[in-house]
Amino acid sequence: MSDPRSGKRRERLLKWLQDAYAMEQEAETMMKAMASRIENYAELAARIGQHVQETRQQSESLRQCIQSLGGSVPTAKGLFASLTAAMHAAGNSMMEDEVVKGIGLSFGFENTEIATYRALVVAAERAGATDIAAVCGQILQEEIAMARWLEDHQDVLVSAFLDRDETPGAEAKR
Ligand SMILES: [Fe+2]
Repeated sequence: MSDPRSGKRRERLLKWLQDAYAMEQEAETMMKAMASRIENYAELAARIGQHVQETRQQSESLRQCIQSLGGSVPTAKGLFASLTAAMHAAGNSMMEDEVVKGIGLSFGFENTEIATYRALVVAAERAGATDIAAVCGQILQEEIAMARWLEDHQDVLVSAFLDRDETPGAEAKR
């Protein structure tokens, strides 16, 4: 006889995968808005652009995991998250130190993603879905790499902002 908890475990896993999918929609919207506005910080724009590509691939992998469990991707939730993200990005764009605030916002978001995928790996293993655990473990590594990059480059980017800010006629904001 099958374990009565297994249905519950798969249900939980599916729900968290759907939450992660919505989160990635939000991340993509936010990062695309940010990257398109950066004018003076090429290295940051390039790294964000790379992570946008990774994020698209992650969404696709999540979609496959969700469908393998018989679920569907959350469109309404994803749309709402995208709207929230667009508002976030727009609010940020009004700050005179947009790039500095954007780095902080991104660092926070990446760390939320890290916690999300750690939880997903645990839930997938409990549900006996080793293939999904592997997918989430791989995505987790990409999120850790992005968070680390932001951490490693924050000092240099903030200094670059302050250099421009102190230079008459130079645009520092983005
Ligand atoms: Fe990410």
